[in-house]
Amino acid sequence: MGKRGAARAAASRGPNAGARDGTAGSGMLPVGQDVIQPRILHAFQRALFIADAETARHSARVGAAAAALGRSMGLPEGEVRQLRAAGILHDLGKLVVPQDILDKPGRLTAEEWIEIRRHPAVGADILLAVSADLASLADAVRSHHERWDGSGYPDGRVGDQIPLAGRILAVADVFDAVTCTRSYRSHTLGELEARALLVAEAGSHFDASVVKAYLAVRANAPTGQRWVRTGSRPSSWEPTLVEATR
Ligand SMILES: [Fe+2]
Repeated sequence: MGKRGAARAAASRGPNAGARDGTAGSGMLPVGQDVIQPRILHAFQRALFIADAETARHSARVGAAAAALGRSMGLPEGEVRQLRAAGILHDLGKLVVPQDILDKPGRLTAEEWIEIRRHPAVGADILLAVSADLASLADAVRSHHERWDGSGYPDGRVGDQIPLAGRILAVADVFDAVTCTRSYRSHTLGELEARALLVAEAGSHFDASVVKAYLAVRANAPTGQRWVRTGSRPSSWEPTLVEATR
């Protein structure tokens, strides 16, 4: 079977067929199997860094985490490389969001949220303008704020409607955002608090199978001394999570 035939077959089996049946791949690359060219990735990364160094550093960490997650889930190396690129580019659309909104501490107004919520679709549109072959990468970027229960944005996709790459990015993005200092948020979670947050949100915000895989990835990470809570999630975490996932 040729490359296009294999891609069509993978697509017809659904987005997670490979992960389910143990055959090659997750179906994440149904259009072109090409990962974005390194010089284009570097140019976008440079633009992100010039616009907002903090977001660029966060994005590099999300790319590394998403790649580690994909590798731990048994995805082929081509898809792992694409996950790294998707992590680096997941907030590409923030280039069009005013910096004072991105950096605003505390709660955003309804109008400011509308501005922020443009960024997944804008990022995807930029990648599609580079090449139609980047459709799966663009869809990963577009879907990184979707939620398993359908309450995310921009499309309100539910469960398996969200591409696996988007579900992986969601976990990697939120974990990094809550554990690292961001200008718009005063509260930072420790390793174990952040793991507990993922567990609490598995099946609602996140794909539970991706959370399980990420907990295994982080099993040997240093936990520090910040673990103070057990049991149910304090209600005060909900705004923290929302603020963490701009
Ligand atoms: Fe984002």
